[in-house]
Amino acid sequence: MAENYCLHSRRINDFIDETFDGVRAPFTAGFELTAKCNLNCVHCYAKPGRSHEDMTTEEFKSIVDTLVERGLLDAYFTGGEIFTRPDFEELYLYTKKKGVMLSLLSNITLLTRKHVDLFKEYPVEVISTTMYGHSEEAYERVTSVKGSYKKFMDALELLHSSGIRFELKYVAMEQNYEDVYKMRELGKQYGVPMVVILDVHPMSDGSTAPMDFRLTPEEAFEFDIKDEGRRNFWKDVAKDMLSGEIGILPRRTVERFEQGYLYPCSIANQHVFITSDYKMQGCVRASYRQFDLRKGSFDEGWEFLQKEFLDRKSTKDYKCNKCQNIRFCEHCVANFMLTYGDEEHPDPFFCEVAALRRKFVDNEIARLLHKQA
Ligand SMILES: C[S@@+](CC[C@H](N)C(=O)[O-])C[C@H]1O[C@@H](n2cnc3c(N)ncnc32)[C@H](O)[C@@H]1O
Ligand code: SF4
Ligand code: SF4
Repeated sequence: MAENYCLHSRRINDFIDETFDGVRAPFTAGFELTAKCNLNCVHCYAKPGRSHEDMTTEEFKSIVDTLVERGLLDAYFTGGEIFTRPDFEELYLYTKKKGVMLSLLSNITLLTRKHVDLFKEYPVEVISTTMYGHSEEAYERVTSVKGSYKKFMDALELLHSSGIRFELKYVAMEQNYEDVYKMRELGKQYGVPMVVILDVHPMSDGSTAPMDFRLTPEEAFEFDIKDEGRRNFWKDVAKDMLSGEIGILPRRTVERFEQGYLYPCSIANQHVFITSDYKMQGCVRASYRQFDLRKGSFDEGWEFLQKEFLDRKSTKDYKCNKCQNIRFCEHCVANFMLTYGDEEHPDPFFCEVAALRRKFVDNEIARLLHKQA
């Protein structure tokens, strides 16, 4: 199981799961081309990396060569902002010509017609872009850059008219929560998915400042039941649980926990993340244990990640492996470590949202049973 960084990656991950079950190889990868950015979002986890010396063009090509030899099929570029790199086009073409499927995560405010022409000639799987607010005020309250909303909207029109596949993401925070329902509608207007992210996590150096902007658990849950798509998702969970199609605990999670592992998500199993200062991580969030590719080889790093993440066992005090609400939870060990310096310390925000969802699903099951009787 690899990391889901956009909707396209979910489909690829399902394919990899089915085709290469039990094979450990870097089939997918994320490349943080730079942590530098033309915007300055209040919540940005990548800020601590802004002063890093970015990997060079040659370093990038060398790790792509190795990853392709080891099985790389699908990758994404992220940042910071990928279009601030002067050699972006070279890196893009190099990876495409190696036969790797490529997606891009970008704020798109620097997107030009030249980029669009490039993506038409050498197709991008999807451009996954984040819209930080529906109104100019809310958008710029997040990005802290005057004029950025207009640039974003112009680029959105350019993308829309180009026929290039794109999706919209929206991180709901106290600065832009007023827009949450309008954002979902906007996705429909453009005919693209609008992924609403309700969790704001710490920065890559463990600073918890962005978490101050999180919604309350009640606000996050309110969106779950008011939004038609989300409400139907939880109703389907209730139906599937009642019919026995799915259990109260997700199968893969149960397997990993029964074997005593700490990370149920198979971090560093079929995915790897390369940071802008040329380090290897098990996933985008796991910045607390890195392998420096300037000091050792990919194979050494891959072994290091196996020991440090995949093979890591939990202690007897670990609460999450006994928890009956995990199906309803955004449980993330890397988040716990970044927030509390302790991989086994659950975040109460996740627990509270999970408990509210569980109650909703239990009530729904009771309602369905009553209807059947
Ligand atoms: C780091 S950005 C890089 C791509 C691009 N610059 C953008 O903003 O879309 C990748 C995604 O992470 C999100 N993000 C940044 N900091 C975050 C945080 N502390 N918690 C949750 N999501 C965050 C961004 O909003 C964006 O959707
Ligand atoms: S646009 Fe993306 S990388 Fe830039 S500051 Fe905002 S979240 Fe961070
Ligand atoms: S974070 Fe809380 S709700 Fe989620 S699995 Fe752990 S204990 Fe359960």
